[in-house]
Amino acid sequence: IKVLSVASECVPLVKTGGLADVAGALPAALAQHGVEVATLVPGYPAVMAAQGGGPVLREFPDLFGGPARLLRGALGDETLLVLDAPHLYDRPGAIYLGPDGNDWPDNPQRFAALSWVAADIAEGGAGGFIPQVVHCHDWQAALTPLYLQDRGLSGRVGSLITIHNIAFQGLAPAEMRGALRLPDWGFHPDGYEYYGKISALKAGLVYADKISTVSPTYAVELLTPDYGTGLDGVLRDRAGDLVGILNGIDEQIWAPPYKDLRGKPKHKAALRKEFDLPPSDGPLCIVISRLTGQKGLDLLLEALPTLLDCGGQLALLGSGEARLEAAYLQAARDHEGVSAHIGYDEALSRRMMAGADAILVPSRFEPCGLTQLYGLRFGTLPLVALTGGLADTVIPASAAGLAAGVATGFQFHPVSTPALERALAQMCATFADRKLWAKLQRNAMRHPVGWDRSAAHYAALMQDLARS
Ligand code: ADP
Ligand code: GLC
Repeated sequence: IKVLSVASECVPLVKTGGLADVAGALPAALAQHGVEVATLVPGYPAVMAAQGGGPVLREFPDLFGGPARLLRGALGDETLLVLDAPHLYDRPGAIYLGPDGNDWPDNPQRFAALSWVAADIAEGGAGGFIPQVVHCHDWQAALTPLYLQDRGLSGRVGSLITIHNIAFQGLAPAEMRGALRLPDWGFHPDGYEYYGKISALKAGLVYADKISTVSPTYAVELLTPDYGTGLDGVLRDRAGDLVGILNGIDEQIWAPPYKDLRGKPKHKAALRKEFDLPPSDGPLCIVISRLTGQKGLDLLLEALPTLLDCGGQLALLGSGEARLEAAYLQAARDHEGVSAHIGYDEALSRRMMAGADAILVPSRFEPCGLTQLYGLRFGTLPLVALTGGLADTVIPASAAGLAAGVATGFQFHPVSTPALERALAQMCATFADRKLWAKLQRNAMRHPVGWDRSAAHYAALMQDLARS
């Protein structure tokens, strides 16, 4: 069957977070299950530079304020569809943010245009590719099911919306309805209206045939006010159509540079050197993360003394909120055992994964999380909050996990500083027992983290959508 995937970012072309990894890896994984995916992405400068030379499949004389073209590119062996619309996407810097660090004011138009073109492709195809199902990722693609409905296409084309992070909803003022080509018939509380505004994500949640999110636990959490961020009621109404499918990782891209654990010490020494950390008997821990409230890294700042007291060290790579960046730089000045690199650096993140003993993910909420999966694969034990996909992917070194011999990391609950401190202390104590630590590492490295099982689940869902 044929599926059009619509995503605002996609590895290896453009990435701000895990959504890009998923959009980039899922098409090849689905191909193994008989699903042919073409991926529609905005033609940002990086995308145009890499994939902007392909044949023109369609032209749009006026796409939300300017001319645009649809170009054919390639995503590995699969099809890429590049939406070349310079008035919307030809801007330097971060893809969602203007030079002032705020969202571009016309983000509603930029991503409505993407969704509009997705509906066009569903209607008339692109270069002979006519999708049976449209797979929309997050709010940026979430108006597609509404456009399909408005064009009377929802009976012919199935739609799936995947929630990667419900914290971003794509709100816009009601007056923008015309500019976004949205039908008035849906502007009410049971439609795409959200407290007087347009909500792109809500449109997707209301009008898509099926809803998925990126872990089973987050699918349940989303139904509660604490996690549903205002959309839990909408999701409870559609609970029967909501499913949690765990993300996988691209095992080719995320392969450790060693076959077994004997290869790790060399990388650990190199990592200490690179982060200017002194020798120590405690665990070398890493964080690779966006620095935002979601990720709970303010709790880690408070819990640092517990880690340092037992000889543990921290190497952090991240960027985001200025106050967190500054706080970690300050912690690095204050403590010999802490080192911080502010920025975004994929190659460095890989070297960290290879050299570290443990990766810390103390998130307040985490739809899936990918870095703990990389950690498992690299024998870099995850210490995670018991939430969302973190709960679904790490088997804690609890009494039960240890007795059964299956533990792969450490978990804490509730998401609070004292609970994190206890987990850090437990991790340090476990690290001191070298045989036990090595056993956990072997368990971790054997844990399946690839796409196969989840791709089969998505494929089955796509088949259903194509049939009904
Ligand atoms: P989220 O999508 O919420 O940011 P995920 O764990 O799903 O969280 O995905 C984050 C992805 O971004 C991972 O691939 C991670 O390695 C990467 N990443 C995050 N911050 C950085 C950084 N500063 N440098 C390099 N890679 C980063
Ligand atoms: C979001 C979530 C993260 C998830 C990623 C990919 O950015 O914050 O938990 O892994 O999407 O689905």
